Amino acid sequence: MTKGLVLTCDPRFVSELKKELQLPKEPDELLVLAPGVLFVARETVGEAIFLRHQFSVQQVVALESTAFDLPRLAGAAELLLAAEKAGTRVAVQCRIMDRACPYQARDVKGALDGVLPLHGLWPETKHPSLVLSVLIAKQRAYLGVSSPSENLSRWNGGAAHYGKLSGALSRAEHKLEEAFEVFGIELAASAQVLDLGAAPGGWTSFLLKQGHYVTAVDTGELARELLTHPRLIYHRQNAWHIKPPAATFDLITCDMGREASGTVEVLLHLASSLKSGGALLMTVKFMGHEPLPLIRECRRKLEQRYRMRAGRHLWHNREEVTLYLVRHT
Ligand SMILES: C[S@@+](CC[C@H](N)C(=O)[O-])C[C@H]1O[C@@H](n2cnc3c(N)ncnc32)[C@H](O)[C@@H]1O
Repeated sequence: MTKGLVLTCDPRFVSELKKELQLPKEPDELLVLAPGVLFVARETVGEAIFLRHQFSVQQVVALESTAFDLPRLAGAAELLLAAEKAGTRVAVQCRIMDRACPYQARDVKGALDGVLPLHGLWPETKHPSLVLSVLIAKQRAYLGVSSPSENLSRWNGGAAHYGKLSGALSRAEHKLEEAFEVFGIELAASAQVLDLGAAPGGWTSFLLKQGHYVTAVDTGELARELLTHPRLIYHRQNAWHIKPPAATFDLITCDMGREASGTVEVLLHLASSLKSGGALLMTVKFMGHEPLPLIRECRRKLEQRYRMRAGRHLWHNREEVTLYLVRHT
């Protein structure tokens, strides 16, 4: 089994991913390489909320778990990159999920980066046009070359790197930042955003930094440093009780810590406060419910007023997923 896909999800949600993609059960078609990492002998698998990252595998190299593996991996990479156009910017992304491996991901990356100049290719970490992915697990290396968009997320395994995390405010901020990036959300700087369940204020803080005008709503308290911001209006209120004028907002963001069914009702009620074509970015919190039936039910109800664009269990999501929808009526 050589050609296929390496799929990555949160290890807690492997069974959800398998159900969403209707993955085969036969061991010659589906291998569990590591917690949350699967190899499937298929060329494509379609879309899935619980799929964070994928890359197509063009070569599998059996390893000896000695330093001699490195030149062999470099040789395999040379074959894979031989046909690429000189000047292409390539990111080498390596993940090692094999405890017996005597070298580290940075050693493999170093060896493979060394191959790039031989073909006139440029190493590039942040904005590559091509990714050379390597996953090492169970004494094998799975290698493949693909475009960043095919991989679904920028980093091997779907990890998101947005600088140092310190405290709940910035962790929440990164969750929204990741959602904007993954769903390709672009708003004019002057956009009006309604942020529901805003406290302590990570999402509000991110939106203000983008230059947006934010109406933040929460029964709890917003971080003090945000309160004097000139583009912020803060209602310390239950989201059920606010009455914004029709067609006011370009985006509603909603991270309310409550049962998803109640959140959906509030969002149906507030849909008319969105401008035509306005969007909704929300978390669906599992709170002990089976994730897939819960997401299906939320989606079914939301589709009365919104059209689903995408959903993802983001790197920064825990017991929840993030959905992106657009108002249709
Ligand atoms: C996970 S926190 C939100 C974190 C926030 N996104 C941030 O970036 O800091 C959930 C919030 O939802 C708020 N919440 C729950 N039910 C609410 C309701 N009915 N109306 C307004 N806020 C609500 C809670 O008070 C809590 O502050």
